[in-house]
Amino acid sequence: LLINYKFVFNGYHIIRQYSMTKLIICNWKMNLGSQNSIEFLNQIEMAASNKDNKFIVCPPYTSLELVGNNIKEKQSDWALGAQNCSDQEDGARTGDISASMLETLGCQYVILGHSERRQYHLEDSKTVKMKALKALQHQLIPIVCVGETEEAYNQGKTQEVLKKQLEESVPSKQCVVAYEPVWAIGTGKVPQVEEIEETHHFIQSVLQEFGFSNVSIVYGGSVKANNITEILGQPSVSGVLIGGASIKPESMNPIVSKLSI
Ligand code: 13P
Repeated sequence: LLINYKFVFNGYHIIRQYSMTKLIICNWKMNLGSQNSIEFLNQIEMAASNKDNKFIVCPPYTSLELVGNNIKEKQSDWALGAQNCSDQEDGARTGDISASMLETLGCQYVILGHSERRQYHLEDSKTVKMKALKALQHQLIPIVCVGETEEAYNQGKTQEVLKKQLEESVPSKQCVVAYEPVWAIGTGKVPQVEEIEETHHFIQSVLQEFGFSNVSIVYGGSVKANNITEILGQPSVSGVLIGGASIKPESMNPIVSKLSI
């Protein structure tokens, strides 16, 4: 189901067609290893994705195969995603995992350039773009993360930061872009929904400038059962990227049941 959605941004009339199906992406980060991942999934009501929502679960590498098999056994249509991949095809890259390996495991998505990787692994946007291109060669949809720090936010530099990150890290319109303000990750702080709308419009207009139209933009940062409906209700929000709330049955089950109604 495609909806025409019109808005004015910086004096430009922008018409965007978007799919009503919202992406619910669960980023487990470095949690739920092989044994724990299955115990966790057994406590989750794996509601079928429906016309409104599509669930994508992104476990750590070591749980990917088990989680993929568990999803299949339950005949669920949740999709599998990874949290990173190499920018190289194969070869001498100790500790790295290639896009081709992820494809073989049944992954359909890969999160790239998450702020934790930018921060702790010094990943820059150019590397993120190379990874995204490699992912696309292997039929993986890159979920490219962008977001400003608290300092940039307070200095009113959000748009400047985002524009540079988008320009340098998004290679094609076949990507999903995740807007994750760094200051909202794991903090319980969430921008006002009007602010999320405005920023998503900005991201959309920047992508459009590069010739990338109709890119899905998801929001991430302290999404929980008590705010997910309002956030997903914003027309410019194509989905959510959930961290902390996606790794415990007591916080994930209420999300699943809210979205299955
Ligand atoms: P939280 O939901 O824990 O804030 O994490 C968001 C995130 O980083 C998802 O990628």
